Order: sequence, then C-alpha cells, then structure tokens
Amino acid sequence: MTPAVFMREIWHRKPLLIRQAVPGIVPPVSREALFDLADREDVESRLVSYFRNRWKLEHGPFAEDNLPSRKTGKWTLLVQGVNLHDQAAADLMSQFRFVPDARLDDVMISYATDGGGVGPHFDSYDVFLLQVSGRRRWRISSQTRLDLIPDMPLKILSDFTAEEEWVLEPGDMLYLPPQYAHDGVAEGECMTASIGFRAPAYRELAGHFLAWLSETVEGNEGLDGRYADAGETATAHPAQMPAGLARAVAERLQAMKWNGAMVSEFLGSHLSEPKQSVMFAEVEEIPLRKYTKLAQAHGVVLAPGSIALYDRTHFFLNGEAYEPPANLAKWLRRLADHRYLTAEEVSACAALPDLMDTFHDWTLEGWLQIAPVRV
Ligand code: SIN
Ligand code: CO
Repeated sequence: MTPAVFMREIWHRKPLLIRQAVPGIVPPVSREALFDLADREDVESRLVSYFRNRWKLEHGPFAEDNLPSRKTGKWTLLVQGVNLHDQAAADLMSQFRFVPDARLDDVMISYATDGGGVGPHFDSYDVFLLQVSGRRRWRISSQTRLDLIPDMPLKILSDFTAEEEWVLEPGDMLYLPPQYAHDGVAEGECMTASIGFRAPAYRELAGHFLAWLSETVEGNEGLDGRYADAGETATAHPAQMPAGLARAVAERLQAMKWNGAMVSEFLGSHLSEPKQSVMFAEVEEIPLRKYTKLAQAHGVVLAPGSIALYDRTHFFLNGEAYEPPANLAKWLRRLADHRYLTAEEVSACAALPDLMDTFHDWTLEGWLQIAPVRV
C-alpha cells in the first residue's frame, strides 16, 4: 500500500494490519542498548508489571539491577523518544514522514518478557505498532465503551471485548487510529516499536495562543500601558471592584487583533518547541570562516532533537520564528524537509547574505550540526 492510499483510506479512520511492512527488520536498538537508555536521566522510561494479579507502574531511570529478571514473565519496559538518541530509530521514524512533522511525535520502544503488556487500553493518538523482535499477540476492538477501571496506576479498560486478534512477527505492523481499544501481550521475549503521533488539544492551544498574542506587539499596541484611574472618586466600599477597571480591560481585550497568518505563526513556533527532555549538545566556538569551509565540505544536518517546520512566510526552528526572504526560504525549507543539506547544497547557498551566519549560530546552539559523514 502506498502512503497516498494509506492516508486517503486508512489514516485516522480505521485499523490496519500490514504483514511484513518491514521485511528482514533489524531492531533499531538491542535489548542492552534499550536498558542503557532506560538508565539515563534525560530519557523517559516506564516499567509496567502484572505480578500476582496487580498492575504496577514505575518511572525510570532504572539501573539494570533494578529491573525484574528476564526469566520473570509479565513485565515490560517502555522507553520513550528512542529516535532522539539512536540513529537507527530516527531513520525508522523518518520512514513515517508521509505524515507531516507537526503530527509526528516519537519512537517508543518496549521490551517485554513472556506475557508482558500494558493491559487493554486505548490511546488518544494514532500509532503504528511495529514488531521489531519476537512475537506479540494483539487483540483489538472498535468498542465505544471506553470506561477505565478506577484507581489504577495505568489506564486499563474496565470492559474489553476483542473483535480481532493476530500474532505479530518481526516486521509485521499494526496501525491504530486514536481511541481504538487494544491489548498487546508478548509471546516470549519481544520488542515493539510504537511510532507515535501527537494532536494538540484545541483548549490547550487556545491558552497558549492567547498568551502568545498578548506578547505580540504587531496590531496589539492597545495592550501597552496600565490601568489608570485619575478622577476616581473616594469610596465608602473599598472592597467593591471599580466599575472602570473591568470596562477598561474588556475594551482592550475586545480590541485585540488576530488573523489566520498569526495563528499559523503561533502554531509553527509552538509545535516546533523541542521536547522537554531534549538537551542540545554544547558546541565549541568555531570562527565563522572555518565553519563555512567545513559546512561546504561536509554538509549540515539538523540535530536529532531539533524540530523544523515552515509555513508560507515563516521558518520555525525549535520554537523560534524567522521570516526569511524568498532566496533563503528555499534553502531553509529544503533543510526542514530533508533534515540535511548536502555539501553541494551548502556550497550553492553559502554566499547568500546572512545564511552562513545563521547556520553558524544554530550550530553553536547545538540545533544544527556539521554532517558527521558527507551528505
Ligand atoms: C507496548 O509496546 O507494549 C505498548 C504499546 C501500546 O499498546 O500502546
Ligand atoms: Co496503546
């Protein structure tokens, strides 16, 4: 199935099992490498177990000695954002870029012992569940009753009635739209990669947008200044709110201006904010001329934690919005879409005013890197 057909007929609508979506799959990380990640402060990990008929959820980091034994069944270790730390996981995620980056979230990899899983549940986002090693039995249901068992450490459906069931082998993949009930249980040791998406909640965006708008000077100069009440009369009811206060604020709020272009600028800045756990590597100062030479020789790549987006007029990188002129925008869009510029491409655009300066700044921030190998 081509991405075009998938997006038209399946995406966000219905589940799909794709046998051998990735034939001959090689796990992006080994079990040991996954355990190492779970031991890091800057990596989000969880341990879910179902021992003696009780669900338990613990948060990492986990030293390997603190994990249950591999011989014990019914536990699973889930590591979030593996794509930020491992190139193979990042490459895997990039295969899903037929969905816009603004919707892509991360690659989570789980390792489970026999019988391990997180229980029957639903997720709020679309997900591709790719079996990377071993076997897992998936049961799914289109049920609309999604009540959860109360007072549980994790989301478990109180009533789950499977309608379809498959055992996934390495390379098999299951796509699920949001709110689709599912339960995956390991058959022997196994690893599953979840390519996860995000969909911002309108209510949350509204709050962030209003905060952004109140900081935006353009067209909203009315918000400058403070409440002033020269001529206010002496009061016998000091606790009573002055009527003029609410009136003055309401007038200012009413006069606030925004339009679709501003919403797009806000969204680009907001959605390109790096994930909280991301720490960009410190970079040694390097003179601009030397930097330009290196970039021309090797090309540049976005750091794994960088998020680059663009709209009609802006380029966004890690929460910053830029309004580049058309001749620069062309290259920045290419950088965002490919996540790199080759040595030839950098050489072709290096003479454009400000471009190498900007790349240099981004590189010192740790957002952009000289390509480790020639790209
Ligand atoms: C898992 O990998 O065990 C959990 C994935 C999921 O059900 O969302
Ligand atoms: Co799930």
